[in-house]
Amino acid sequence: MPASVAVSAPALRVSLRGVGRTFPAPGGGLKPVLRDVDLDIRPGEIIALLGPSGCGKSTLLRLIGGLDTADAGALALDGTPIAEVDQRSAIAFQEPRLLPWRSIERNVSLGLPRGTDAQEGRDRVAELLRLVQLENASTLRPRQVSGGMAQRASLARALARGPGVLLLDEPFGALDALTRLTMQDLLLDIHSTEPATVVLVTHDVDEALTLADRIVLLGEDPAAPGTGSTIRSILEVGKPRPRDRADAALALLRADLLERLGVESHHTPNYVTAALRKQRQKVGDRPTASTDEPTRPHVF
Ligand SMILES: Nc1ncnc2c1ncn2[C@@H]1O[C@H](COP(=O)(O)OP(=O)(O)OP(=O)(O)O)[C@@H](O)[C@H]1O
Ligand SMILES: [Mg+2]
Repeated sequence: MPASVAVSAPALRVSLRGVGRTFPAPGGGLKPVLRDVDLDIRPGEIIALLGPSGCGKSTLLRLIGGLDTADAGALALDGTPIAEVDQRSAIAFQEPRLLPWRSIERNVSLGLPRGTDAQEGRDRVAELLRLVQLENASTLRPRQVSGGMAQRASLARALARGPGVLLLDEPFGALDALTRLTMQDLLLDIHSTEPATVVLVTHDVDEALTLADRIVLLGEDPAAPGTGSTIRSILEVGKPRPRDRADAALALLRADLLERLGVESHHTPNYVTAALRKQRQKVGDRPTASTDEPTRPHVF
């Protein structure tokens, strides 16, 4: 096992209680974006956050990372309130955001905690570059590498401080479909070597089904438009990783998710839709899988 495990912080529990955020509305007044967000994320768990564009996914991720402050509720990592730009977590975005004049290696080193011993820092960066398979690209500039490589460098930079919580905002959203699949496998490898708690924002239902322990659907209550998004459903995937993408149980969850997201899928085979209906009748219109928050309404 690589030495990195020693420098990685242990995965942290994330607790969100009654979290709310409003922003100034363009025409004056305040626009509620998030309200009453309650969520407990177990240490080392991978959570996928899904919901319509503009529903507040990035806002929630920024709040967990301490890059923004909630105006209601409480947010904590392992019971300690989340601080401004909390050093216990790290965030990576859809664009790699690398400094073009620095080599890949030096970009990754930007993620090291302040005051890291020079030799230790070099060792850590070398090890991370191996982990994301960039050891042969360490001296290249960002413009000399592919989009997938740049995104791997961005992941390595986020991991450099050994975060207890890794926040990923559509990290593979700009990559082609094949590179995305490779990156998903890489993320699972990274997670087994550096087992942080992961919150992954994605628009890709299959990505969520491949990676997440639980899938959290964020959105507005259609009966209360304009009140801000909250958690509409939590689905437990309940399958060991790596997962067979063709698994029948995943097909059922996929159909369920698409329906909850309001996407009419003509690609869902009739037998899957029929199985979903049957299962819903059996469990009383609850999500396909169980949830650890039984008091929450489950219908998206
Ligand atoms: N700093 C800000 N000031 C004003 N409004 C903001 C600010 N940040 C976000 N918003 C608004 O909050 C809402 C949610 O934005 P957010 O970026 O969190 O959505 P999202 O779910 O990540 O969307 P997407 O899937 O398109 O990335 C949007 O209406 C956005 O305009
Ligand atoms: Mg976003």
